[in-house]
Amino acid sequence: MNKKTVRDIDVTGKRVLVRVDFNVPLDMKTGEITDDTRIKAALPTIDYLIEHNAKLILCSHLGRPNGKIVEKLRTQRLANRLSQLIDSKVFDVTESIGPIAEQAVESLQPRQVLFLENVRFYPQEEANDSEFAKSLAKLADIYVNDAFGTAHRAHASTVGIAAYLPAVAGFLMEKELNALSGILNNPAHPFAALLGGAKVSDKIGLLANIFQKVDSYLIGGGMAATFLAVKGYKVGLSSIEEDKLDIAHKLISDADSMGIDFLLPVDAIVAESINTESKGEVVGISDIPDGTYIVDIGPRTIELFKTKMKGCSTIFWNGPMGVYEIPQFSSGTKGMAIMLSEINAITVIGGGSTAEIVEEMHLSHKMTHVSTGGGASLKFLEGKELPGVAVLLDK
Ligand code: 3PG
Repeated sequence: MNKKTVRDIDVTGKRVLVRVDFNVPLDMKTGEITDDTRIKAALPTIDYLIEHNAKLILCSHLGRPNGKIVEKLRTQRLANRLSQLIDSKVFDVTESIGPIAEQAVESLQPRQVLFLENVRFYPQEEANDSEFAKSLAKLADIYVNDAFGTAHRAHASTVGIAAYLPAVAGFLMEKELNALSGILNNPAHPFAALLGGAKVSDKIGLLANIFQKVDSYLIGGGMAATFLAVKGYKVGLSSIEEDKLDIAHKLISDADSMGIDFLLPVDAIVAESINTESKGEVVGISDIPDGTYIVDIGPRTIELFKTKMKGCSTIFWNGPMGVYEIPQFSSGTKGMAIMLSEINAITVIGGGSTAEIVEEMHLSHKMTHVSTGGGASLKFLEGKELPGVAVLLDK
């Protein structure tokens, strides 16, 4: 990575504002944090800054409060969880900028940690308002961006603030960029991309950008329906993205002419409705009944994908293979996760729902890298510059 990190700047006794992405999943009823992976992922930077006698000021967004105060999205619960993890008090304030926040920072001693309020309670955050960015910057001497998951957003706390303070990357940001650029620039071959999820449109940029690099595409999930339609298969009630048929056709024929494998499901689980009561049935891919939806890849596809991946040295996975939330339609996704956890290859898992699935199955530690960024990792792999990275100081 060609950006400066916390290692490249003297933080001793300094007020260091760290933008983290603690946008963690919460239990809808109780508001409890259901997965604290993103908090744990920022600990190396936080520990380093504490050890180096910095005064730590953390800021994050939580959810999408749209510029308004939403009680259950206060960062206090994040501060409490962090406090348990670092075994030390984490102070919190109910403002991100202004006199209350300034006073809290003033009383901060080296090695102490203060958590600011949810930056998205202010409409100026997402508008990347320069006055808001300036007020945030006023709280600190140094800015550290460790929020890889939000690096694709040009907001005041990820981009604007860097105009007013020396801006460097944290260790999580560095780790993410190194892992993802590794598979973009120098993947060990054979390299397979296992892609699923609902829509082709979400993955077109990625499919195209890694085209020259992959040896195989393995396609499952809802997005497979559009490719199957291109191949002339009937897909029942599954939705086809009509406006993506041409590009899907081009991808398949370009892959064909360049000798890249483009594997689609050879069988599927279908169901007449998609809910927890629905019953699935295994059918061959040419036999999808009219009144059914494709809800998962079938057992022969699981075997086909496994066999292909066994011969690979690098595998990137993004997107579930079926309707994972419904247990009877989760076998394809679970099968892929288990396979990737056992294989002797570089395994990189895109963030978002794929990372949550791997974490829920307690398999994260068996993967080479599980990204903490859903949208951010996709953007990066599409070859786009992430605004939150672009503004950091070059090495
Ligand atoms: C994420 O969860 O992908 C990041 O925290 C960004 O959140 P956003 O999509 O609400 O900007």
